[in-house]
Amino acid sequence: MTLIDRLPAPDDRIVILTGAGISKESGLDTFRDADGIWARVRLEDVATPEAFAADPDRVQAFYNDRRRMLREADIRPNAAHEALARLEAAWPGEVVVVTQNIDDLHERAGTRALIHMHGELLKARCMACDAINVHIDDLGARTPCPACTATGALRPHVVWFGEMPLEMERIGDLLGDCGLFVAIGTSGTVYPAAGFVQEARFHGRARTVEINLEPSEGHTLFHDCHHGPAGTLVPRLVGDLLAHANRSD
Ligand code: APR
Repeated sequence: MTLIDRLPAPDDRIVILTGAGISKESGLDTFRDADGIWARVRLEDVATPEAFAADPDRVQAFYNDRRRMLREADIRPNAAHEALARLEAAWPGEVVVVTQNIDDLHERAGTRALIHMHGELLKARCMACDAINVHIDDLGARTPCPACTATGALRPHVVWFGEMPLEMERIGDLLGDCGLFVAIGTSGTVYPAAGFVQEARFHGRARTVEINLEPSEGHTLFHDCHHGPAGTLVPRLVGDLLAHANRSD
């Protein structure tokens, strides 16, 4: 039995939304699970522009820890990231991954068509000159901007609560014209990403599928829901899609 009731046409665009759950089996914590990041730290203290203005060292330390963790040798893409890269390479139509994650596990797995709507942990943005550069070491008050040399002006290139996610116009265009929308490993609590299923289904024409460890907040909005680990279910879904594409050759 396939994981999708009605498979898309092989030349249809597929849009995949991913959240922290897809990186859990790689060793990175989610936010809202019992052992998640927001159970240990208050998001108001580390993930808002106000928090950064009040205590930049605390905010930088939070992201410095996460950046160091991401670079640890045992943190690598898992079977779900790898399956999505295979899908992009072999599906006849376009496949775009829109991720809420700031880690780089999708690109390490080989995904190329990727939108980091909440920014990237391994980049820094200069508040003085707006330059965005790769930054893999700790950030602090004395780190100079590689573009304008200002110090104290670099912040993590991440979208904080109260800020506008990146590339929303492009994401809207993709959702409005796709045959399949799949949300993977996201609790469906943070907008605008939580509203993508409605955009793809009701403003567009997409079949919609949820893959998550447990029913998300908005699970009733999806045509098909499959609950279990992404590392098992995503390779199955990709296998179904590619078998279907091959049959239609
Ligand atoms: N496979 C699939 N799903 C999983 C797995 C797994 N192995 N492990 C956990 N999950 C699910 C959890 O059940 C949960 O519903 O992943 C979901 C993760 O939800 P959140 O922690 O809320 O993460 P996310 O939806 O990505 O959060 C959205 O909130 O704090 C912000 O900016 C942050 O981008 C983040 C946004």
